[in-house]
Amino acid sequence: QKLEMELETIEKGGYDHFMIKEIFEQPRSIADSMRGRLRADDAHLQLGGLNDYLDKLAQADRVVIVGCGTSWHAGLVAEYMFEELARINVEVEYASEFRYRNPVIKENDIVIAISQSGETADTLAAIELAKSKGATIFGVCNVVGSSIARATHAGAYTHAGPEIGVASTKAFTAQVTVLTLMAIAVAKRKGTIAEETYRQLLIELETIPAKVEKVFENAAKIKEIAFIFTYARNFIYLGRGLNFPVALEGALKLKEISYIHAEGYPAAEMKHGPIALIDEDMPVVFLATKDSSYEKIVSNIQEVKARKGRVIAIVTEGDTLIPGMVDFVIEVPNTHEILTPLVSVIPLQLLSYYIAVMRGRNVDQPRNLAKSVTVE
Ligand code: G6P
Repeated sequence: QKLEMELETIEKGGYDHFMIKEIFEQPRSIADSMRGRLRADDAHLQLGGLNDYLDKLAQADRVVIVGCGTSWHAGLVAEYMFEELARINVEVEYASEFRYRNPVIKENDIVIAISQSGETADTLAAIELAKSKGATIFGVCNVVGSSIARATHAGAYTHAGPEIGVASTKAFTAQVTVLTLMAIAVAKRKGTIAEETYRQLLIELETIPAKVEKVFENAAKIKEIAFIFTYARNFIYLGRGLNFPVALEGALKLKEISYIHAEGYPAAEMKHGPIALIDEDMPVVFLATKDSSYEKIVSNIQEVKARKGRVIAIVTEGDTLIPGMVDFVIEVPNTHEILTPLVSVIPLQLLSYYIAVMRGRNVDQPRNLAKSVTVE
């Protein structure tokens, strides 16, 4: 017992919890997930596992993405990227729903299964179902040699390294990174991406680890915000476009480890329900980075402020408008819109972590949850 505890202390490498260690590992894990696959200076992009399937993906009428939990959120991010860059029709499904429907799957459909552990029972069953109908299955897994990795026709590992904390952090950013590389590679093959955008994205991707590192400079500020909202009973997370799945992921992180009720919503949907919840006791986290939905998000913030909600906004560095409108801002570095989730999710991971610690929760092993769900 004593030995086990000592071993764990060593494994945590000086951090209090695995989760915070894994959050801070992200500059490296994101770089690892691109290593050998991307070189911006000579515009090189290649995923070994994708080579034989790139044409198939480029010709696919549609792609179905399956996953659970955080992996499903990575799938939602991928949906935007594949549609925007590669002009492929994408559907993102909860593996547990997909497998029990009678889904329409055709032989030239491609199914992308996303799983950190590679052992999630529902995702595995969804793969088997799609396979039996003749679809090609591509896996995006973290654990090498896992059941899902073995059940797929091809795949790309995320190479995030072992993730111990039950709440997924570095696995998520690694999944998003690999899916981004895939979307860009397919777009290039299909000719749906302008040469300039292609080069620009590769260059930007290489700067992401340093930008994530930059977000960490706000850790003390995020801790202060966490202190103020430690005993909040509810939280709403709002975002649009690529930041909508990030809002879902931020809310999930908070629920998982702090046990605070939190909802993620597309910001424009707020007026169809959640706005009724807004009062001076409701913290609302806005993903408000400078992107194509910026103006719209600004008016959504005004709607919440008019109802006295307390707004925490994740903004792009140098934003001068939003800080004057909201209660708290957390800055993230500017990047290409497509890559925004990789930086905007980081403050949300930290916020949930600090709140959970302040509430005295068992951060690495929250109640009722398992790292991988191998039963139905
Ligand atoms: C569990 C974990 C989540 C994870 C989900 C999917 O619920 O607690 O963190 O996102 O399973 O797991 P997978 O290993 O398939 O990504």
